[in-house]
Amino acid sequence: MKDTLLIIRSNREIAPLTFEMRLSGDLSDITVPGQFVNFSVPGKTLRRPISVCDCDGETLRVIYKVVGEGTKIMSDMGPGSIIGTLTGLGNGYDTSDSGTRPLLIGGGAGVPPLFWLCKKLIAEGKEPVVILGFNTSEEIFLKEDFESLGCEVRLTTADGSSGVKGFVTDALPEGYTCTYSCGPLPMLKAVYDSCDVPGQFSFEERMGCGFGACMGCTVKTQNGYKRICKDGPVLYREEILWQN
Ligand SMILES: Cc1cc2nc3c(=O)[nH]c(=O)nc-3n(C[C@H](O)[C@H](O)[C@H](O)COP(=O)(O)OP(=O)(O)OC[C@H]3O[C@@H](n4cnc5c(N)ncnc54)[C@H](O)[C@@H]3O)c2cc1C
Ligand code: FES
Repeated sequence: MKDTLLIIRSNREIAPLTFEMRLSGDLSDITVPGQFVNFSVPGKTLRRPISVCDCDGETLRVIYKVVGEGTKIMSDMGPGSIIGTLTGLGNGYDTSDSGTRPLLIGGGAGVPPLFWLCKKLIAEGKEPVVILGFNTSEEIFLKEDFESLGCEVRLTTADGSSGVKGFVTDALPEGYTCTYSCGPLPMLKAVYDSCDVPGQFSFEERMGCGFGACMGCTVKTQNGYKRICKDGPVLYREEILWQN
């Protein structure tokens, strides 16, 4: 983990209330897809955790939805602004046992971390299939970016305005070797119930410190209590304990 100052290079709205921010600075601790950073938003005590969408060592790309005051302040920060950031947080996705045809499933604000993961899997010679789920067509983002990687992309919208009408589990392909997912809890549960193959699931929890010190993000798993910020956010299928 590194506590560093990053420079915002660009910050633009790519879908209604969805912003793409590119930053530069010391990105050396960002090493694995599925990790997140924690932004120190001016005027707010608690940092805001946002997944790494892509990182090449020079530029960090994140995509975030404006849902409250912190993300609204972020959306108003222009190029040249400096933002305090904890980098290299979380365990990230492990790609070593993915098999040849991993299935990547993202819903809404859970789509971004799958992009860098998809690039990594392709660089490793695998043939990922991607399912992107949104509520409606105007919310769609990153679809062309995934397509430009040359992988199969399936799209679902809850209202049927684009792609398959329904949920991500209505667009499952044949013959996938494992799943990597990130999205709202009901989506993760549906993927867990529908896909009986090895799986890695990225969870969101409200966070305090973001690096394992406060225990504020602790969840119960099959292997005892885990901190989503430090032991996660990615949990393996076999360790998940769904709470009712
Ligand atoms: C590991 C991780 C990765 C994330 N990646 C992304 C991403 O790539 N893109 C994206 O749009 N969103 C992502 N989120 C959700 C994002 O952190 C929240 O939407 C954001 O913190 C909301 O802040 P706010 O001040 O605008 O909202 P407010 O509701 O005003 O925030 C109040 C407090 O609650 C916390 N909070 C609110 N919603 C969430 C949430 N869903 N998860 C965790 N804490 C929350 C805030 O951090 C803040 O401390 C991620 C969350 C986690 C835990
Ligand atoms: S947020 Fe403090 S331990 Fe996870």
